[in-house]
Amino acid sequence: MSRTYRIAPSILSADFACLGQEVASVIAGGADWIHFDVMDNHYVPNLTFGPMVCEALKPHARTSAGEAVPIDVHLMVQPVDALAAAFAAAGADSISFHPDAVQHVHRSIQAIRAQGVRPGLVFNPAASLDVLDWVIEDIDLILIMSVNPGFGGQSFIDSALRKIEAVRRRIDACGKDIRLEVDGGIKQDNIRRVADAGADTFVAGSAIFGQRDYRAVIDAMRVELARD
Ligand code: DX5
Ligand code: ZN
Repeated sequence: MSRTYRIAPSILSADFACLGQEVASVIAGGADWIHFDVMDNHYVPNLTFGPMVCEALKPHARTSAGEAVPIDVHLMVQPVDALAAAFAAAGADSISFHPDAVQHVHRSIQAIRAQGVRPGLVFNPAASLDVLDWVIEDIDLILIMSVNPGFGGQSFIDSALRKIEAVRRRIDACGKDIRLEVDGGIKQDNIRRVADAGADTFVAGSAIFGQRDYRAVIDAMRVELARD
């Protein structure tokens, strides 16, 4: 089955001293989405950036033809709702949050959708998928963590492959067009295994921003995805 694949570089590994240029460069290198890893040093033991950075980068998230490139916000924060609203106002195109970081998952999904933003849920390596029994129809994105949230440059956790397969079965059974995104430890040498498990969108931070030639890395990932 032919699937549209998306590469979503995470700016967590970009040069924070010139984020606007980094976003423009990685889009010129072929990025499909820009992945925003938001951390609050509470839900995860790290601190990154807030909605003001999203607002500042929004004008840079465009192709050379002027087409907007989606900003894919991943909230590793607790609480979620107020920050999700601020990111929606700052121009986020999708906002994903961890179900264990909120009191009322369905209400938080509804609040994101009400602001015209695509809602998603994020599942940590040991997290159950059970909540999807009741809300899969309400979301547009499922993000599977293949590392423990908080830091870039970690190694891929192989058990994520089984979870990706399970989510793919759930998405196919519900018949809705839901993105299946994977985040953490994605490299040129494992992206095909992750795609074969059922993923269609790939977050990669250190594999891309750690390199000199963004287009070469992204193209190499696409070659792996296209291989028969
Ligand atoms: C973890 C972050 C990382 C990041 C990707 O909380 O979400 O997974 O996006 O980092 P790499 O690609 O370096 O593993
Ligand atoms: Zn992320």
